[in-house]
Amino acid sequence: MIFDTHAHYDDERFDEDRGEMLKSLKDKGVVTLVNVGASMRGAERSIELSHEYPFIFSAVGIHPDHAKELDEERFSHLEELAHDEKCVAIGEIGLDHYWDESPRDVQAYWFKRQLELAVKLDKPVIIHSRDACEETMEILKNHAAKPHTDTVLHCFSYSPEIAREYVKMGFYIGVGGVVTFKNGKKLQETVKETPLDRILLETDCPYLSPEPHRGERNNSSYIAYVAEKIAELKGITADEVLSVTENNARRFYGIPDRS
Ligand code: NI
Repeated sequence: MIFDTHAHYDDERFDEDRGEMLKSLKDKGVVTLVNVGASMRGAERSIELSHEYPFIFSAVGIHPDHAKELDEERFSHLEELAHDEKCVAIGEIGLDHYWDESPRDVQAYWFKRQLELAVKLDKPVIIHSRDACEETMEILKNHAAKPHTDTVLHCFSYSPEIAREYVKMGFYIGVGGVVTFKNGKKLQETVKETPLDRILLETDCPYLSPEPHRGERNNSSYIAYVAEKIAELKGITADEVLSVTENNARRFYGIPDRS
């Protein structure tokens, strides 16, 4: 059974067949998914989707690319959304020094504010961090890495050494399609070294489709390919990967049962 811990079905690439696609997922073994908002509109859409489909839960947060759009009024609105009964996390939030769509100080400011919000509401956080390894670690260590807030480094792209440090801090490592790529060696090393009970499976769909569907639109059922690859790397079965990581995801988000 598949638990997709990070999907974006609010994305316009699903506009033409969203309903059919979501309905078809159940037949393909997808039991639960968390739709992650990245902008204010995305957060609102995530909540809407979670109310429309019992197996969908939501995360609300503003991605660093959109941090420049935040102000106090919008931040209050985000907090209201976070109180929704199906909102299970704050995310995705963090730093992106690859695209630099928002000024770096603005990214850091709203990253910290949203971490504080997660602590206040006692919700886990989903971190987006790209080309900002040290800066992210520093904020998580010194600012708001409270031990009672569960944290996942979504679409983990740093070294196995950094993963080890995060695992030591009690964090989770988010793994998706990249692990199946020919040029995914670094992530494959990380997966080999990281205990299975610290790994969360994710699609980040519509992005990052795994082999043999690389380049196509991704969807939650393709997590089967990610599980196969992890199984191969760890010398266990894909079923074991799916069941252990499903338990991880339920523990992380506090979603005990299949709905
Ligand atoms: Ni994402």
